[in-house]
Amino acid sequence: MPYRLISEISKPSGKTALVRLDTNVPMAGKKVVDDSRLQAALPTLRWLERRGAKIVIVGHLGRPAGKTVASLSLKPIGYLLGKLLRQPVKVLSLKVGAQAIRRAAAQAPVLLENIRFEAGEESNNTALANQLAQMADLYVNEAFSVSHRRAASLVGITSKLPSYAGFHLAAEVEALDKVRRHGKKSVVVIVGGAKVADKLPVIAKLLPRASAVLTGGAVANTFLAAKGYKVGQSLLDKKVVSTARALLRQAGKKIILPVDVIVDNTSTKPKEARWRKVSEIKANESIFDIGTKTTQLYAPYVKSAQTIFWSGTLGRAEQPQWRHATEALASVAAAHARGPAFVVVGGGDTVAFFHQKKMWVDHVSLAGGAMLAFLAGAKLPGLAALGYYARRRKSK
Ligand code: 3PG
Ligand code: MG
Repeated sequence: MPYRLISEISKPSGKTALVRLDTNVPMAGKKVVDDSRLQAALPTLRWLERRGAKIVIVGHLGRPAGKTVASLSLKPIGYLLGKLLRQPVKVLSLKVGAQAIRRAAAQAPVLLENIRFEAGEESNNTALANQLAQMADLYVNEAFSVSHRRAASLVGITSKLPSYAGFHLAAEVEALDKVRRHGKKSVVVIVGGAKVADKLPVIAKLLPRASAVLTGGAVANTFLAAKGYKVGQSLLDKKVVSTARALLRQAGKKIILPVDVIVDNTSTKPKEARWRKVSEIKANESIFDIGTKTTQLYAPYVKSAQTIFWSGTLGRAEQPQWRHATEALASVAAAHARGPAFVVVGGGDTVAFFHQKKMWVDHVSLAGGAMLAFLAGAKLPGLAALGYYARRRKSK
């Protein structure tokens, strides 16, 4: 194991565990819209509970930047966690003090109020790490999706308490590592959606092992612009067009771009969807999906892949008229998952799409930035603090 897993905790009974979760869940007012990140942490929380450990949870919501922002309180999340754990979860401010928090945790799980209300969290402040350490006897990182942040509750804390990896964090690392290392197997990478600047380094890193990179969304638009196509009003990242051009040169024929697209006129109402060759897009049009020829071009790659990593939908799949290509190729990927192919899906919109369609894959990554950084080869501070990189080198 590249780190100590939670199951290696000796004699957890009676000990207080400080558990970092990613409580940064989509909210509509005070309502949690998607509780996947909380659900994913339940095995870790239950494992601790069943063995008699007391639990103090640390989490964040949004980016309050060291100030108390009432709308970013973790109270609604504490309430939901209580329902999931079938016992009330108390949300306590750090200010009540370590002893009071320990006493409360002896009765029922405690959730600390948004740790990003503390100025020391994002600066990885030692005093804050010490303060957190006083509340517990051991630390568990169950927040892979925040582990790209150098913060007190992810990094500083690990030098104060014996530290362990949670079950979901370990599952994320294992699945994403498989994508990175599936050397001999045919890896097909599907990238769409936005966040182009974060996705190009992932493409660059996976390229040597990938048999094909299939593109859609703003990622494809940026590559098309890099090749000199006129993409009208389509969403793209102008700042990385030259990076995209360099990548195309380096990739030979591995990066595959749409040959046809579905566009809409962005200046007139009512809107009319039209099919276009990529060479015929007009100045007032925007690309909203890849075309049927492109879907047919991509399908054989998806069918023959042994490993598939998919991040970003190919069109604006939240709207029914732009989701045909994503749906067609997703059903091929899902049909091959847990069988001939190892399929990993990541990124908010992509995960929501597979979820909504009830399409099963081998691993669903609940991380955004952390997943892309990990796949691009960056060392994540939260993993490094668990000893991940050092131990991995040793075990090679
Ligand atoms: C996320 O939602 O990606 C994580 O919780 C990290 O949040 P951040 O991008 O605000 O650091
Ligand atoms: Mg983020």
